[in-house]
Amino acid sequence: MREANSSDLEITFQWANDSETRKNSFYSSTISFVEHSEWFRKKLKSDQSKMYIVSLGNTKIGFVRFEIDTEATIGIVIAPEYRGKGFASAIIDLACARFWKGQTNLVPVCAFIKKNNEASVRSFLKAGFNFERDDVVNGVCCQVFKKEAQ
Ligand SMILES: CC(C)(COP(=O)(O)OP(=O)(O)OC[C@H]1O[C@@H](n2cnc3c(N)ncnc32)[C@H](O)[C@@H]1OP(=O)(O)O)[C@@H](O)C(=O)NCCC(=O)NCCS
Repeated sequence: MREANSSDLEITFQWANDSETRKNSFYSSTISFVEHSEWFRKKLKSDQSKMYIVSLGNTKIGFVRFEIDTEATIGIVIAPEYRGKGFASAIIDLACARFWKGQTNLVPVCAFIKKNNEASVRSFLKAGFNFERDDVVNGVCCQVFKKEAQ
C-alpha cells in the first residue's frame, strides 16, 4: 500500500465508473474523465484528503480514500476482477492503520454504506467497525459504521 499519485489517475477513473461502484455511490451518475481529473488532482493536493493504492505484485487492485474532518470518512473500491476474493477487510484494516500512523490528531474513521451493499457492510464489520447509526446522504438511506483510532 502506498499513497496515491498522478500515475493512478486512469485506473481510479476506470474503477470510479464501474457499474457496481456507481450503484453503491451516493452520486450515481457517470463521471467524465475531465471531471475525474479535476477532482483527483484537487484531492492529491488537499490536506483534508488521504488516498492510498493497494497493489498485488505489480497489479493495482484497490483504492482507499479518507476525507478528514472532526471524524474521517473512508471510501474503498476494489478492482472489479479482484472482488469477492476476501481482500476487502484486510485492505480496510491496513489502510486505517496507515492513515492513523500519518496523523497527529487521531480521529475516528466512519464508513457511510448504502443499505443494500452487503459486501461492504460485511467487510467493514470484519475490519472492526461497529454500527453507529442510520443516516441519509444525498437523499439516500445508509448506515454509518465507525472505528475508533488505534
Ligand atoms: C465493497 C467492496 C470493497 C467489497 O470487496 P470484495 O472484494 O467484494 O469483498 P470480499 O470478497 O472481501 O468479501 C467481504 C464479505 O462480503 C461478502 N460478499 C462478497 N461479495 C458479496 C455480494 N455480492 N453480496 C453479498 N455479500 C458479498 C463476502 O462473503 C464476505 O463476507 P464474509 O467475510 O462474511 O464471508 C467491493 O465489492 C467494491 O469495491 N465494490 C464497489 C465499490 C463499493 O461498493 N465500495 C464501498 C462503498 S461503502
